[in-house]
Amino acid sequence: MKKIIYCFSGTGNSLRAAKVIAEVLKDTTIVNVRKDPSGYSAEDADIIGFVCPVYEWDIPGRMKEFISGLSVNPNAYIFMVATYIAVHGKAFETVEDILSTKGAHLSYSRAIRCVASQCIAYPPFPPEKLMLPLMEKNMLKTAREISEMKFRKYPHMSFITRKLFPKLMVPYLNIEHEYDKGFFTDKRCIGCSTCEKVCPNKNIVIEDGRPKWNHNCNGCNACVVYCPTKAIQFKRPKAYDELGTLMTKLLSLPDKRKRYHNPHINARDLMV
Ligand SMILES: Cc1cc2nc3c(=O)[nH]c(=O)nc-3n(C[C@H](O)[C@H](O)[C@H](O)COP(=O)(O)O)c2cc1C
Repeated sequence: MKKIIYCFSGTGNSLRAAKVIAEVLKDTTIVNVRKDPSGYSAEDADIIGFVCPVYEWDIPGRMKEFISGLSVNPNAYIFMVATYIAVHGKAFETVEDILSTKGAHLSYSRAIRCVASQCIAYPPFPPEKLMLPLMEKNMLKTAREISEMKFRKYPHMSFITRKLFPKLMVPYLNIEHEYDKGFFTDKRCIGCSTCEKVCPNKNIVIEDGRPKWNHNCNGCNACVVYCPTKAIQFKRPKAYDELGTLMTKLLSLPDKRKRYHNPHINARDLMV
């Protein structure tokens, strides 16, 4: 039986979920969506998984591109797991819509709440101590249900989110590729190219021993949080000024934006 999981992950939560599922399913390949989908067909796969975060009430642009370019077996058991913090929006509908153009459909879907890690906008929350045990528990529960090939309907976008989407999210989606405009390195940069290798969008090249961002960003934060010397700094994109300040105030978050990544996932895991 061929089992394959396609994964996008910036700060490791989704890759951790993919790994827990793969461990329970056994003999399962995890493909990072940095790869070219034409080389990773799922035409002969029996179990196909898509695991990624929710970004701007949808899935990351790179994940959309990847699934659109992928050949799948329409009769396979297909699952989707999205990691998120509060609003999954149309993430599952997007994947179902892309799959339906290929005659395929989601058999099982689940959203798993995780530590939110959009450090360019606001500090990570809720506290890791509280969330990590819950995340692990939910990932394992999800993995077991998938290994039993259970069916679970995909959650739709709520009425309110659908109404608010164009006003609240589309402005962010329009500038998403430019999130990297505020990224730069300080003197701690050792030119190790970790940032280049962990970027799921292949958005970074190393020039003269320093990273150069090419404005094809999804804002995943992988380069920032996995930099071994914490040399990558960032200016908050303008669009995030209001949101970031509001969330920091509302949730009484510390103003210092700590660099969270999932403790089970290291930079090497993301480089495959
Ligand atoms: C650019 C960006 C946009 C995000 N948008 C949402 C969102 O719309 N809804 C939500 O609940 N969480 C949102 N999050 C939080 C992530 O979905 C969450 O932190 C996820 O677990 C990250 O997965 P990863 O560690 O695999 O990258 C966003 C995070 C980032 C970086």
